[in-house]
Amino acid sequence: MGIDSALRSSGRLRLRARLAAATVAVAAMTGGAVIALAGSASAATTLRGAAEADGRYFGVAVGQGDLSNTSATNLAGSQFDMVTPENEMKWDTIEPSNGSYNFGPGDNIVNFATSHNERVRGHNLVWHSQTGAWVFQGPEGKPADRETLLARMRDHIQTVVGRYKGRIHGWDVVNEAIDEDGSLRKTPWRDGIGDDYVAKAFEFAREADPNAELYYNDYNLEKPEKRAGVIKLVNDLKARGLRIDGIGNQAHWRLETPTMDAIEQALVDLNSTGLKVMYTELDINLLPSAGRGVDPAVANPYANGLPDEKQQQLARRYADIFGLIVKHRTRVSRVTFWGLSDADSWLNRGRMNHPLLWDRQRQPKPAFHAVVDVLKRAR
Ligand code: GLA
Repeated sequence: MGIDSALRSSGRLRLRARLAAATVAVAAMTGGAVIALAGSASAATTLRGAAEADGRYFGVAVGQGDLSNTSATNLAGSQFDMVTPENEMKWDTIEPSNGSYNFGPGDNIVNFATSHNERVRGHNLVWHSQTGAWVFQGPEGKPADRETLLARMRDHIQTVVGRYKGRIHGWDVVNEAIDEDGSLRKTPWRDGIGDDYVAKAFEFAREADPNAELYYNDYNLEKPEKRAGVIKLVNDLKARGLRIDGIGNQAHWRLETPTMDAIEQALVDLNSTGLKVMYTELDINLLPSAGRGVDPAVANPYANGLPDEKQQQLARRYADIFGLIVKHRTRVSRVTFWGLSDADSWLNRGRMNHPLLWDRQRQPKPAFHAVVDVLKRAR
């Protein structure tokens, strides 16, 4: 998967807006130029600089609500060169009711990205979650039938992909279609259309923008059964002659799980389909699973900050992950963080999580320096 020369050679980073979630894209490139960074940041002290010096690139995912915080936008713009909208292009935001489109939030992110020479990854076109109930409803309270659902899906994809044609590098066409046991997940899409709904989505996306890259995106791919289901699905799409350019592995991981061996095995297996793998939503959850009524000291152990020992563990975990990515650089086309800083992460949810490379003040953590070191050593 190549990087166009315009993106490679244009590196002037002028940040005026603000971002909430961060995508780091690492792509194998040939002969990439070191990008000149504005302000005090240098190529040696940013992920983007370190990666591009090694012939890779970095990007940023954004949330519309965050386009007004200078520290966030400064960080996101200096560290990344790719954007994934966190929620702004999901069905319930972009088509909240039938045929009525709300493009403002997505437009703002695309405009931000393009004005900063950043690519955009569209996220996402077809998913069972964050999709209005109306989509699946037919007349008299009955579920919509196959033809109705296919028409809605096609209209949506034509309209959304069509609007951003030429401005979005690639789309997550279908998100999370496979269940934990490797079977096709039971969703209203599958119930109404049948097992070929995934293929139909890829067909419509190709029709809407023949030049955009198209991806399948899912989580828990380190679990062999689920991974086998994804590989089967991807091979089926290929056998149907449909375009698919990559597999997104969300990579919502923890400190100890999945193991590095499991991550490596998943990468090799997924890549054996002939497709590059993208880590699309990387973060490391440091909090225990805790239901209601659990002692807050247990449920929320780092409310006053992350102890040094945990910081170091997190740094080692990220170093291991990026070490693996560097080792398998020909298999991995991109890495995306799901959130710019600890202040922006979805993993807080009423507690204090510390899953990313920057802290709540958007200052670099030891994990950031560990990743930069791995990238620099890889040159
Ligand atoms: C999934 C989705 C993302 C996001 C995360 C959690 O992984 O793909 O869009 O919703 O969950 O925030």
